[in-house]
Amino acid sequence: MASAAVRGHSVVYAPRIQGLLAREEKVFRIDAATVGVSDSRLIAGIVAERPVTATERSVYKPAAGAEIDHDSATRTIRALGQDVMAGILTPPPPVRGLSGAWPYAATGYLRQWLFSADPAPVSLLSRRGVTRSAAFSRVVDRAVAVWPGGAAGGGRTALAERIREASAGQDRRQAIALYRRATATLCDGVAALASNALWLMGPEREPEEVPVDLTAVLWETLRLLPPAWMLFRMGGGAYTELHPEIRPQDNVALFPLLMHRHVDYWEDPLEFRPERWAGVADPEKTPAFMPFGFEGARCWAKHLVVPLAERLLSVAFASRLVISGPRQQAQVPLRSLLSVRFDAGAIV
Ligand code: HEM
Repeated sequence: MASAAVRGHSVVYAPRIQGLLAREEKVFRIDAATVGVSDSRLIAGIVAERPVTATERSVYKPAAGAEIDHDSATRTIRALGQDVMAGILTPPPPVRGLSGAWPYAATGYLRQWLFSADPAPVSLLSRRGVTRSAAFSRVVDRAVAVWPGGAAGGGRTALAERIREASAGQDRRQAIALYRRATATLCDGVAALASNALWLMGPEREPEEVPVDLTAVLWETLRLLPPAWMLFRMGGGAYTELHPEIRPQDNVALFPLLMHRHVDYWEDPLEFRPERWAGVADPEKTPAFMPFGFEGARCWAKHLVVPLAERLLSVAFASRLVISGPRQQAQVPLRSLLSVRFDAGAIV
């Protein structure tokens, strides 16, 4: 499973990911407190066994000292959906923004495309220079907390409207946190996916060579290099009946990355073959495939991710963007989102 040569170029995984890819068993101990799982049935069983807890959540972990209630969570996703759909229909920013170090260039480009119309200080919440600094983030949070908001609408995103409508205090602080998390999860996730897709398509691709079926390319990318490569469950208490290796005191790490390239589940698992998704009406019904989680804990934003990544890649191809380096052996560092690093530039 470790070899990842695809179309004559390969990735170098961080040593810990490399170590996981070398594991042959589907249930294995990673350390004294963690069991790793890549068995399709067991992963499905674990995901269905209990809902994720508030602290295991990422977007909806508690904010401003309180849990996020269901109503606020669903309204946030609805607002994000409106903003993505509206963004996809607006003209993209100048394509020079896509040149540079990926996936960061793509993250910044998406933020600018979708959220820069928000009035200051809200738009600063998603600006990369700000999100990378805890001190800057606190200053911007405070500015948004006292932001007068003005009249309804006014060309802002639906997510910014959620902040404007929130009453002062905890409501507003939660709306601010959700704006920041939703925009970051979206832009980072879609940038990682697009980065992985560009790499898998290969640096030798001619700039004008646009793949016929970009949707299939993206599903195949979600299989071979899934941005959400590991899901984590704290505590094994609920799972001890499911497998003898799991003890109550264990944490459990579920690995779509390993499951998606296991020879028991896939034909020629290491080959990048978008054709395998041609004509597949609902890829997520495919056994041993869970780029957005299984039934019971499925990603709330999955319907937004693939269309936005597709639009971003179309813009990249239209601007004749190609990978400028490295041509071989790009790095995949150990991060919560799995993403290939490379430089890209437009051919003029
Ligand atoms: C490339 C982008 C994304 C990928 C690959 C992805 C993948 C996933 C996966 C695998 C899960 C299951 C997690 C688990 O069971 O532990 C999940 C759950 C979830 N995702 Fe996503 N996701 C993406 C983007 C987003 C975005 C943009 C949002 C919203 C802002 C979002 C919101 C959620 C929520 C709310 C859950 C359910 C977990 C919970 O209840 O908190 N995701 N996602």
